[in-house]
Amino acid sequence: MYDLSAATAKLPSDFIFGVATAAFQIEGATHEDGRTDSIWDTFCRTPGKVKNGDTGEPACDHYHRWPQDLDLIRELGFDAYRLSVSWARVMPEPGVINAKGLDFYVRLIDGLCKRGIAPWVTLYHWDMPQWLEDRGGWLNRESAWYFAQYAEAVGKALGNKVAGWCTLNEPFCSAYLGYRWGIHAPGRTGLANGLAAAHHLLLAHGLSVPRLREAAPDSKVGITLNFTPGYPVTPMDQGAVEVYNAENGYWFLEPLMTGHYPSIVAKLHAHAMPRILAEDAAILQAPLDFLGINYYSRALVKQSQDPDKLYDTVPAEETGGELTDIGWEIYPTGLRDLLLDLQSRYNPPPMYITENGAACADVLENGEVQDEQRCRYYRHHLAAVGEALEGGADVRGYFCWSLMDNFEWAEGYSKRFGLVHVDYDTQLRTPKASAQMFARYLKQRNR
Ligand code: FCB
Repeated sequence: MYDLSAATAKLPSDFIFGVATAAFQIEGATHEDGRTDSIWDTFCRTPGKVKNGDTGEPACDHYHRWPQDLDLIRELGFDAYRLSVSWARVMPEPGVINAKGLDFYVRLIDGLCKRGIAPWVTLYHWDMPQWLEDRGGWLNRESAWYFAQYAEAVGKALGNKVAGWCTLNEPFCSAYLGYRWGIHAPGRTGLANGLAAAHHLLLAHGLSVPRLREAAPDSKVGITLNFTPGYPVTPMDQGAVEVYNAENGYWFLEPLMTGHYPSIVAKLHAHAMPRILAEDAAILQAPLDFLGINYYSRALVKQSQDPDKLYDTVPAEETGGELTDIGWEIYPTGLRDLLLDLQSRYNPPPMYITENGAACADVLENGEVQDEQRCRYYRHHLAAVGEALEGGADVRGYFCWSLMDNFEWAEGYSKRFGLVHVDYDTQLRTPKASAQMFARYLKQRNR
């Protein structure tokens, strides 16, 4: 049961296997060495926003325990590690670069290189500095230029040691969860806010790409987008699916490929669209070396009876499918279909799965976590990647979310996505059966 050889049979021998994390979710040390508040520190302090009042402290205390965590990645045999940089550590005040903050990441990247693990670095995994939010955050077009400045500083400090740069992680979540629906930091709402944030995030991405290329000409530069592809409840719902996909996944990819937002939805949202300048199309289309894909689940979509809504989605518990502990339907076929769809629709640069994984109700017993559901989840999704490759999708690598249990945003520490179990009282790390499954496979592959 806990064996990956059949699931990976269609993957080439140079396919990259990695694990992923993000700064705010693991680091802790939220006010050490000059770091100032990010919007997530503020959000955690706002009553009712994060489950159990959990905060970014101490998280996995990775800021102090990173050498042991990197040893763990090496022991498990992964080729690569995708981490993120905290903007508020590097730029704690407007225009100020904090050498102590930057040094942490220099040590981390050097530590990875020393251990033979390829560093993949995300520059924005949702933790905007609070000082910038106070100036309008992603609603302010100028934030894109602040981001480019920050990206350049990190690019210069880490340079070519970074194998792959992800400018942004899931701008869908930053824009829609953070500025449209208010369930993530900074907790703002409204369609026009969501669309403005989206545009300014994508501008930030586009402006930073040439600066990263200049600072690190040998690194790959890309972006990570998330997709929860839509499926129709009945054949009659196909039109609703097109609108759903355009408003969610394609909204963030199409401008990067064509310079324009998907027209079917841009027309429907004409009254709420942000100001888009003539020069923006070229900025958005900065050439990319790779496209990062995060996939967890699908959505069942149907026409809405409500004239104010473009479509309805079926709650996961009504799909009849198996759910993970966070309530997301397990649907591996969706990953295969998505990769094939993106390949034929946009002919994107080489794709990497930068996140895929499951939250499970793990039990630590006698020093072991038998996470059967997670093992199965990984086997089926890796098999789906193999099928996509066979069908012509250009996929080069796969990162598990996550290396270890961590702060799961609005869910706090209640949801566990790790290959490695974390006891938050003692900070003890225990590799789960899923971690051992990957380790066994990677060891025999590397032999
Ligand atoms: C993704 C995020 C990541 C993690 C997983 C479960 O949307 O990028 O930080 O929370 O979901």
